[in-house]
Amino acid sequence: MEGTVKKAILPAAGLGTRFLPATKASPKEMLPIVDKPMIQYAVEEATACGIEDFLIITGKHKRAIEDHFDSAFELEANLKRSGKKNLLDEINKLRDVNFAYIRQKAALGLGHAVLCARPFVKDEPFAVLLSDIVIPRGDSLMRNMIRLYGKLKCPIIAVTKVKREEVSRYGIIDGIEESAGIYRIKDLVEKPRPGESPSDLAIMGRYVLTPDIFGALRRCRPGRGGEIQLTDAIKGLLKKQAVYGYLFEDRWYDAGDKLGFLTATVDMALENPELSKGFRRHLIRKISELKE
Ligand code: UTP
Repeated sequence: MEGTVKKAILPAAGLGTRFLPATKASPKEMLPIVDKPMIQYAVEEATACGIEDFLIITGKHKRAIEDHFDSAFELEANLKRSGKKNLLDEINKLRDVNFAYIRQKAALGLGHAVLCARPFVKDEPFAVLLSDIVIPRGDSLMRNMIRLYGKLKCPIIAVTKVKREEVSRYGIIDGIEESAGIYRIKDLVEKPRPGESPSDLAIMGRYVLTPDIFGALRRCRPGRGGEIQLTDAIKGLLKKQAVYGYLFEDRWYDAGDKLGFLTATVDMALENPELSKGFRRHLIRKISELKE
């Protein structure tokens, strides 16, 4: 069943304004959580589910992403010479994965970025992963979504429960729970006010879609901020076909936001065998200083 989805799209052409000035000339997706760029977490998440072909949607100042997934002969030779096998294995980990790149000429929204992927996707289902949503155990989410797609043959969107007061930061679904954690979506509302939200189930940056989305995207008019929104296109799809939400209940971080990025960094540094001891000691010291 996992073999049904072989391609993934990673949109990475956004302006990253929440991280300025760091993102003025460097991609947000290359910001590291501990020692790995955010985008690599997303790639590893997808490869763990059998995805082999990646299309990264890039824009201005995004060359570092292409370089990161390319081979680095000089560095490899140096690591080999100095016997640093662990580091060599680490940088060669994604050697057999195929990467293609398409440039989004202007940051016209996530929907527009996905539309740029049309020639790559052809007529297959595909995954979309937003790499600023970092999910430490994301492979199980993607695996379950791909399995569900195999069963239902309908687009599947990951959703997660958020606090009522936070709904206005997300796209929220209105759905009927058909079986535990699986919702048939009736409607989608972009950033509702807490009192007007149909649920507390937020869309969270992982999708399994079919090529039907491209027609829906082409029909979309620019929405909020003049951008073509993926949420609007999925809403358009609902008129013609079933779309399901899959509930994710584990840990995730919105690392495209400074606070989310810092939280992810602290948590993942504490889980890193090389760093946990020293970093924990530092945090304990810091917390006691803050208490004084
Ligand atoms: P975000 O809205 O989180 O990213 O888009 P952003 O626009 O880069 O950042 P801010 O809000 O200005 O700080 C989610 C994902 O969609 C991509 C982004 O690169 C990010 O990975 N995206 C967004 C595109 O590829 N193209 C776009 O036009 C917009």
